Amino acid sequence: MIVLKSEDEIEKMYELGQTTGMVMDYLIDQIKEGITTLEIDRMARARSKDVGAYPAFLGYAGFPKAICVSVNDEIVHGIPSKKCVIKNGDMVSLDFGLFKDGYYSDMARTVLVGDVDEGAKKLNRVTKECLDKAIEQARVGNHISDIGRAVEDHAVANGFSVVREYVGHGIGRELHEEPQVPNYKTDSKGAEILSGMVLAIEPMINEGARDLYVKRNRWTVVTKDHKRSSHFEDTVAITKDGVKLLTRLN
Ligand code: CO
Repeated sequence: MIVLKSEDEIEKMYELGQTTGMVMDYLIDQIKEGITTLEIDRMARARSKDVGAYPAFLGYAGFPKAICVSVNDEIVHGIPSKKCVIKNGDMVSLDFGLFKDGYYSDMARTVLVGDVDEGAKKLNRVTKECLDKAIEQARVGNHISDIGRAVEDHAVANGFSVVREYVGHGIGRELHEEPQVPNYKTDSKGAEILSGMVLAIEPMINEGARDLYVKRNRWTVVTKDHKRSSHFEDTVAITKDGVKLLTRLN
């Protein structure tokens, strides 16, 4: 069942989204060569507390940390660790959400550390463009499949592949609600996009093939060919006046 949100609820989710965006910006500013991903987790916890919210992923389905930090060939669900030290040239994805007053937010950004090669720059630029093109399709009268088509067309045109095993989702009083929002072309049109839908749209784009596996820690998802992956996500609300970007700071 797809739960549509009232204007009031969307306003609450906007406030939480903006808070999440500010915490994300803070975390991005702290990322530099030599920092461990566990330190990023500590900062995510501290900032969540400061803003009076709970880290959405902490304990979710048993996830042990407050933020997912996925480096280079890690696609998603990287577990912060003191053994994982950020190096010059790394691509670091932060996937982070908050829970406050009954509602969830969810967003991801991938940052480039120090001297990165052209391949990483292109992958990151194209993935961000995929998210923007996806968001353009998130409007009343379109269908969920319009989002995935926009992502896949742009990624493939640039020589990249699209992860299929993990998809975007509705969000609200639950972190993961219906509908699922695939980042690839599907046979069915999917649900019609309606005013009041709130979606977390999150393309994951690979430099090489789309094949992946889950590491023995049962969480971290990596590319099979160990080429890099980029991930951008925003929570957006569909309103009769157009799409409202909840987690993007203006
Ligand atoms: Co998500």
